[in-house]
Amino acid sequence: MKVIKVKNSEEAGLRASIIISNRIQNNPSLVLGLATGSTPLPTYEHLIANNRKGLISFANVTTFNLDEYRGLNGQHPQSYRFFMNENLFKKIDIKLDRTFIPDGLNPSEAANYDNLIAEAGGIDLQLLGLGLNGHIGFNEPGTSFESLTHIVGLTDSTIEANARFFESKEDVPTQAISMGLKSIMNAKEIILVATGANKALAVSQLVKGTLSEE
Ligand code: F6R
Repeated sequence: MKVIKVKNSEEAGLRASIIISNRIQNNPSLVLGLATGSTPLPTYEHLIANNRKGLISFANVTTFNLDEYRGLNGQHPQSYRFFMNENLFKKIDIKLDRTFIPDGLNPSEAANYDNLIAEAGGIDLQLLGLGLNGHIGFNEPGTSFESLTHIVGLTDSTIEANARFFESKEDVPTQAISMGLKSIMNAKEIILVATGANKALAVSQLVKGTLSEE
């Protein structure tokens, strides 16, 4: 693991975008794993700018997102499909049929998501954020290292953290579909971006703590 310390979220986004852009330049058919949330937004802005400048093309890139709320369709403003379309996909030259996100309305397809990834050749580079309690995707602390894409019950702390995006806490879905830790660790390379003082404990335990499912 290589730790890169930067000044702020803007610089973190720039550094992550440089790595991703470089991988796309070396492999225009890259299979890219993506995340939602506030952390990757600066990265996406730089990728959009690089695409517009003609430095990188997503025309042959395939993407797989980590997760989706169960029960929300892609038109729901809080669905991760909607987030990705608005914040990245609509603004770059990617083919929408090469962008995969677990289907919140068809949770039975979760079991097939890892097959789809494998059929695409596996994820070359996975971008990750980090939850306040160390969660990755919707995998809360304690999730098995062997987990593949699965249905997850959201913990109270995650529901509370995400309530800011919904009208009320009651509107936050109580379940999600998430790539598991094994699905994520199968990626050939991973960039985890964590910014903000409220992530300090999670980051220090990630970097200095003992390896565990916590
Ligand atoms: C979202 C995801 C989540 C977020 C995490 C941090 O696809 O995988 O694990 O990365 O909740 O969220 P932000 O970036 O909003 O702090």
